[in-house]
Amino acid sequence: MKSLLLSSYNHLEIADMPVPSARPGEVLVRVEACGICGSDVHGYDGSSGRRIPPIVMGHEAAGTVAAIGTGVQGYAAGDRVTFDSTIYCGECGYCRRGLINLCEDRQVVGVSCGDYRRHGAFAEYVVIPQRILYRLPDSLSFAEAAMLEATSVALHAVRISEAKGGETALVIGAGMIGLLTLQAARAAGCERVLITDVDATRLSLAKQVGADEVLHASGSELTAEVLTLTSRCGVDLAYEAVGGSETVAAAIDCTRKGGTVTLIGNIAPEVTLPLQKVVTRQIRLQGSCASAGEYPQAIELIASGRIKVGPLITAVAPLEEGPRWFERLHAREPNLMKVILTPRVG
Ligand SMILES: NC(=O)c1ccc[n+]([C@@H]2O[C@H](COP(=O)([O-])OP(=O)(O)OC[C@H]3O[C@@H](n4cnc5c(N)ncnc54)[C@H](O)[C@@H]3O)[C@@H](O)[C@H]2O)c1
Ligand SMILES: [Zn+2]
Ligand SMILES: [Zn+2]
Repeated sequence: MKSLLLSSYNHLEIADMPVPSARPGEVLVRVEACGICGSDVHGYDGSSGRRIPPIVMGHEAAGTVAAIGTGVQGYAAGDRVTFDSTIYCGECGYCRRGLINLCEDRQVVGVSCGDYRRHGAFAEYVVIPQRILYRLPDSLSFAEAAMLEATSVALHAVRISEAKGGETALVIGAGMIGLLTLQAARAAGCERVLITDVDATRLSLAKQVGADEVLHASGSELTAEVLTLTSRCGVDLAYEAVGGSETVAAAIDCTRKGGTVTLIGNIAPEVTLPLQKVVTRQIRLQGSCASAGEYPQAIELIASGRIKVGPLITAVAPLEEGPRWFERLHAREPNLMKVILTPRVG
């Protein structure tokens, strides 16, 4: 089968690889679309250490069932499906409590990190455990389905921030995750959602997907604007979707006493924490990792149009163009959002 292989760091090539076979409990999926994730780009150059070559990356995918392994029930060849990126054991203490994103034996599709190597979906076929498979409604295109993983991340962050409805929320960073978090906060009933970025083009997208206020500001200027917009009180909920010291501090500064700051961004391994502000204003800091059961909700929200992913898709391109798209994403070419590769054309 045709696959996009990371044969060495910064080098992707179209390779001919054997079609994998579905073992018991697994399903062979014929891939129709697979999105390039920021984590793939960070793996591509070796900086994250999570895509040790040789590896076929790709975990944001959808397609049809090509074959099923023994013991798989409820799926048949031709079914339209997508899958979670996280493979969990189902047996450890975390899995038993439904915290599958924290599984002791967690693996991610399309990752090789020293502990394991699991080829992903930048290929014609990929093998997936049935446990992480979801059926796709006909109303959802394969390209839209490739946005489900990122949407689930956003829905998870909003769920664990305990948004109850009626809140004012602030999203810091209008990238892929921030723009989906904005929409997830709206879907959870937040009354007003503000979003900020240093890149004005991202903010015009934010308006398209329903932001109430877009703030082209950072640091103390951002805090001043948010305080003005919230009767000098601050927002109830802040979502940090950048991942650095300055933006974590801004999230804390813009949040009201007793509010919650949910940390999604994690570019910097460490940040400076304004400890006294967090303590004396009794702010809750909550980390958010991947998703745990939000796929069905993500499917429903995209299918119903309540979460719009169309404006976030930059291109759907043939798998053969993968090397070039990775170079462009890695070079941080402006105005690129989600690039989806498909082995079906070209
Ligand atoms: N916790 C999780 O499960 C999870 C999952 C996916 C991604 N992430 C993380 O979320 C973060 C965002 O990911 P993404 O895919 O949206 O990235 P992205 O590159 O699409 O978006 C980042 C955005 O932040 C903006 N930005 C940069 N500096 C800023 C600043 N000082 N103030 C305001 N905005 C600023 C950029 O202009 C860009 O629009 C990353 O740190 C990523 O690692 C976390
Ligand atoms: Zn991803
Ligand atoms: Zn587990």
